[in-house]
Parts: sequence; structure tokens; C-alpha cells
Amino acid sequence: MAINHPSFGTLDDDRIIFFDTTLRDGEQSPGFSMNLEEKLRMAEELAELGVDVIEAGFAIASPGDFESVQSIARKFAKDGPVIASLGRANPADILRSAEALKPAARKRIHIVLATSELHMRVKLRLTPEEVLDLTTSSVTLGRQHSDDVEWSAEDGSRSDPDFLCRCVEAAIKAGATTINIPDTVGYSMPEDMARIFRDLRNRVPGIEKVVLSAHNHNDLGMAVANTLAAIQAGVRQIESTINGIGERAGNASLEEVAMALRTRRDALPFRNNIQTPRILRTSKLLATITGFDVQPNKAVVGRNAFAHESGIHQDGVLKDASTYEIMTPESVGWTTNSLVLGKHSGRAAFRDKLKALGYGEIGDNALNDAFRRFKDIADRKKVVYDEDVAALVDDEVVRGNDRVKLVGLTVATGLGVRPMATLALEVDGERRDGMATGDGAVDATFIAIRQAFPHDVALKLFAVQSVTGGTDAQARVTVRLEENGKLVDGQGSDTDTIVAAARAYVHALNKLLAKRERTMPPEFQAALTA
Ligand code: KIV
Ligand code: ZN
Repeated sequence: MAINHPSFGTLDDDRIIFFDTTLRDGEQSPGFSMNLEEKLRMAEELAELGVDVIEAGFAIASPGDFESVQSIARKFAKDGPVIASLGRANPADILRSAEALKPAARKRIHIVLATSELHMRVKLRLTPEEVLDLTTSSVTLGRQHSDDVEWSAEDGSRSDPDFLCRCVEAAIKAGATTINIPDTVGYSMPEDMARIFRDLRNRVPGIEKVVLSAHNHNDLGMAVANTLAAIQAGVRQIESTINGIGERAGNASLEEVAMALRTRRDALPFRNNIQTPRILRTSKLLATITGFDVQPNKAVVGRNAFAHESGIHQDGVLKDASTYEIMTPESVGWTTNSLVLGKHSGRAAFRDKLKALGYGEIGDNALNDAFRRFKDIADRKKVVYDEDVAALVDDEVVRGNDRVKLVGLTVATGLGVRPMATLALEVDGERRDGMATGDGAVDATFIAIRQAFPHDVALKLFAVQSVTGGTDAQARVTVRLEENGKLVDGQGSDTDTIVAAARAYVHALNKLLAKRERTMPPEFQAALTA
């Protein structure tokens, strides 16, 4: 039966809403934090991908979270996605979400409250009756600030079924328009999921007026299976993240759910708005921003997802790809012809390529910087692949507002020679130089950075990956820095691994500065960055 929803109007029974929580649940996992520019870039990409709801953050969590929700809310017009902010079931959280969402053309207040016996007793220290009352009062307050309110039963999958039914009924009576039952700890099996939602649909008065939603964690590797089982049991909103990132083992991965729906329409006859050829682009952007590539055998977006190694498989695929491929690589954005531009290509061809790769409007400064770097790479590399272009554009776009820029680097190294790095930074437009020796070229470079821009942080991770194959491939380096228990990751790519490492370090440093600015009163900032 169709549902009349405040944000979506008439929702037919075969329509699946994609609620993306990459910027909230995904961003909560260690090492995956993003700065404001990165979140805005990701939000833009998620909208292009066709997600219906973007959970932009947890507005009360920090001034930075508030600013992200507010900026993302400001970004989209009426034809854009619904923007959601999460809060707990108390007035301060809900009012903070409402405030951050004020500029949104389409908004949702998302309220979470634990309903399992364990969480209520140990974490909330509330009785079931108190939780019921809070459900009613929080949703009522939410509805005073937004027509679209989602209520989530944290640890819902481990909650007593009778009590869960009572809470859901209370939330609906108070005006919730989406009811989400998370498998918060990733404990459920697909049959459990199906039973929970069938039970709610059979027992809760008014359930036919709201959208049911599933939010599954992947602790036992069943998040996607549970999500599909939930859909079969009547769920019409699924909560997922790009590359499956999220708390602990992550959330259901958007790309896997979307491709299961597309590939198995026979078993799952549902419609959705996801533009699947954009999936790879979105996955790679997230990997560039966070510095974490997906594993090679990751379904849909792993680099081996469509690779055929054995002779028998290769033979079959050459005769007819459907022998070993259940979906085409193109349907998720893999291109077979990824050889792109050469060193004689001009700015117009470069801009065209960016459009073909799915980049929307890129600011002139970012375009100029990316084009300059493309020329530089084209000079050094025999062939420039789509992946190379994407890596360098993503690099430039997310670094638009960096205060510290790497403007020069020379490294002398060799057998029996103590490596020496000479480097120039631009800090708020002012040039600063550094020169240092070290226990290797990378060490010397990082010491030179600290000399040019003194700071005291611990290096926690240094990882190198290659963007494409071959000895002339670009290296993508991830650097993780720690300051006062706070972790930031920076990324950099270049055909020269040391340059990539320096870019990554400087990127991490910029994130650290942005973090400090967001959390420190202005009078302390000058002292810290002096
Ligand atoms: O896993 C969970 O329970 C959540 C809720 C906030 C929806 O992330
Ligand atoms: Zn979650």
C-alpha cells in the first residue's frame, strides 16, 4: 500500500529509499574523520549518486559536526536530498539538530533511543516506562521542528519484541514518519530481521502509515544479507554507507545493496534512485578522502571484483562475459578504456574528461591546480589513466582551503649517503623553508616540514599504495598524525613517492589545524599555531 510521506509525497510500495550515513555512522569510525570541505564534497557526490537522505552528522556532538550539518543543509535545494541530523532523545540534542537543519530545503530530525533491556539498564539507567515516555516526548518535540522525523530503537534487534512494539506504537502516535530498527551490534541473522519487521507490521497499530527502515552493522559479515531480508519483510528505507564504513566492522555497504537490487530484480522487484554507474567514482572519492582503500576482493568496487585470473574463467569471459560476470563492470562505473589524456592534451580536453568521469562544476582554482598537476604527471608518466586523473582532482578539490601548502621539495639520497630534504611551504601565503637530514628520504622530508612549520605531533601510520600498475604509477600515501588523542589522516598522490608522502603529511597537518580551530577559542589559536 502506498504511504503519504512528508518529504517524498506518495511512496509506492515498490520504492526503496536509500538513507546514507557515511558522513555520520561512517565518519564515527577511527581514522575516518573528515573535515568540512571533505564532507561537502562527499555530500555533493552522494547527491549525484542518487541517495534520498544524507545523514550529515550528529549536530550536538561538536561545533564541527554542527557546522557540517548546517553547511550541508544549506547546500541543496528542493530537488536535492533530504538532510538528516542525529540526536539523542533529549531536548538539547533535538533543538541542536533543528538549529543546524534550519537552512535545509528538505530536512529530517533523527532521534535515537535504546530499547534493549541491557542498554536501558546499563547505559541509560532508565526503566522501560521512562523510555516509553521519552519516546513520546522526544518525537513530539522533533515534530514541532520538522514534519519529517525518524525514530530509531538503538539495539532494537536485541530488544524484547513486546516492548519494541509498544515503543514503536508510541513513536508513531507522537508523529514519527520513519521507524528505524537498528541491528546496532551486528548480531542478527537474516531470519531474525525478517521476523522483527513482520512482527511489527502485524502488531503495531498505525504501522502502515510510516516507512520502516533497517540499519545493519556488519560484525558477523551479515549486514547486507540482513538488509535484503528486511526489504523482503516490508522495509522500504535502508541505511547504508559507501564502502560499508562505520562503527567497528561497519554498516551495510550501499554499493552491495544497490547492486543486489539491480542484479536480482527477479527476487527483489523494487525501484530506487541510485545511479549505479556512479558507484565506483563515489567509492574512490571516499577512499581518497579517508585514505582507506577497499580490500581487493570487495564486492562491486574492489579492484579484483571484475578481474579474471584463471585460464578457464578468462576463456569463458572472452566467449561470453555472462559466463562469469553477473553484472557488467560498466554498470558500476568500471571503464574498459581508461587510457585518457596525453601530455599534449589541453585544458578543454581535461575539463571534458572530468565531466565524463562524473565531476560536476569544479572551481577555477581547483581546476587550474589540477590541470597543472596533470601536465606535470603527463610529462613523467607514459600513460595517464582515469584513475590518475581522479586521484589528482580529488586531491586538489579537497585541499582548496588548506592553510599550509607544499610548494617545493628536493631530496638527495642514495646508497651510503645520509638523505637530505630541502623543502618550501606556504603558510597562510607566507613562504617558509626547511632543510633536514634523516634516516631515509621520508624521514628527512618530515623533519624538514617540522622545521619549516614547528609543531608537536606523533606519526601513527605511514602507508603507500599504488593508484594504477607499473613502475611509473602514482603512489598514494596515507599519513596518520596524533595530537592529544585526536587522530587525523592525510593523503597525497604523485608519481614520486616522497612527494606523495610530503603531500600526505601536509594534508594531515591541515586537518589538524582545522580541528584545532573548530575546538579552540580564537585567543588560543594564535599561540598554538605560532
Ligand atoms: O547503530 C545504531 O544503532 C545507530 C543508530 C544511531 C541509528 O547508528
Ligand atoms: Zn549504526
